[in-house]
Amino acid sequence: MADKYTKAIRLADVPMDKGAMNRAETGLSQLDHPLGGGLVSGSVVLIGGDPGVGKSTLAITACAAFANGDRKVLYVTGEESLQQIRMRADRLGVARDTLMLLASTDWDHIESEARDSGAYVLVIDSAQTCRIPGLTSIPGSVEQVREVAHRSRQLATDTHIAIVLIGHSSRSTELAGPLVLEHFVDTVLDFEHDGRSSLRTLRTMKNRFGEAGELGLFEMTAKGLVEVLDPSKRLLVARNAKASGTAVVATVEGTRPVLVEVQALVGRPSADVPPRHFVGVEPVRTSMLAAILQNNGLDIYNRGLYVNTGAGYRLIEPGADLGVTAAFASSLLKQPVNENTCVFGEVGLVGQIRPVRHPGRRFEEALRQGFTRVICPQENVDEAPEGVEACGVASVRDVLAELF
Ligand code: TYD
Ligand code: MG
Repeated sequence: MADKYTKAIRLADVPMDKGAMNRAETGLSQLDHPLGGGLVSGSVVLIGGDPGVGKSTLAITACAAFANGDRKVLYVTGEESLQQIRMRADRLGVARDTLMLLASTDWDHIESEARDSGAYVLVIDSAQTCRIPGLTSIPGSVEQVREVAHRSRQLATDTHIAIVLIGHSSRSTELAGPLVLEHFVDTVLDFEHDGRSSLRTLRTMKNRFGEAGELGLFEMTAKGLVEVLDPSKRLLVARNAKASGTAVVATVEGTRPVLVEVQALVGRPSADVPPRHFVGVEPVRTSMLAAILQNNGLDIYNRGLYVNTGAGYRLIEPGADLGVTAAFASSLLKQPVNENTCVFGEVGLVGQIRPVRHPGRRFEEALRQGFTRVICPQENVDEAPEGVEACGVASVRDVLAELF
């Protein structure tokens, strides 16, 4: 614990505690990636998500993968019985001898078992079921959950155990969601799904040991949670390249390039408020892109507009703008985008196309998936590798001229 009389020292004189900064791969690349390369000993990680998204399945799968390397893992459940966990682990085919289980909701009990266990990782599923003895508030309340995070922090610093807290997203005011915990932990990962597809994304919201915005992809199957090792391939699998109203966009999440199909349907003009239904894209931004197209000569704004992304994948980075724009234009004009063409770029309000980060990675990924022509911001053209024809565009009108 910090002593208030400790003297300030020079940065160079700070002793390096090597044991505290070990990073270990978990055995699941789609978890290691969002973690920034693996689990750092002595750190506290929060994995948040809606109930039912698959947090416990992810946790037990990761624990088993990790324990496979002879490292001890302690998985604490406050929600399920040990028999339920065993049955799930057996069914997933992941049972390992070095995986220790504890069913408890009492913090002091959990802490003492963790200290005795010699584990590298402690998973607490969930932070909301954990109870701090002595506090009168109910488990899951803001006070309790904060204290769980605070004590986890102390325990991790003290023992160098990496602690993974599982947190349910909560819309109720009585139960505290992961938001309450974010300040107290080193890394926050969000486990998401769109409610319909089997795809699950794990995104880095905060990371003291790596980049935010990183991404891992999984698929929930009858045999458990399976890693998606080639995301672009998975997200393009149902693509109908010959149809109008679809475009492939080369995005980058964190440092990782992913190709995604965007589908748009532009309906008939409507005198009333036209229907709009957007899945996987940000509604306000998508309406804005339609308004920009309207300003650039396409009669689109007063029509019904629908947008979908491959497997409901959530497109949140600016470079995806050009994908939505291209899909809208293709649907309205009833012309398919050339099969071998993909796009990326940010669209500004007055119709200018802005450069984006990591153009090189986007080109490389496009090429790897067989796209030989890429429509992109003028400023990003130079980064195109051999084998890719880069069509630099400066405005939405240029895009319309290059698309078909
Ligand atoms: P779970 O991990 O319990 O979710 P959380 O901990 O986030 O609340 O998993 C929830 C759902 O996942 C459950 O409804 C069933 C489904 N599921 C599968 O489809 N396949 C599987 O192998 C497992 C274990 C779960
Ligand atoms: Mg659970």
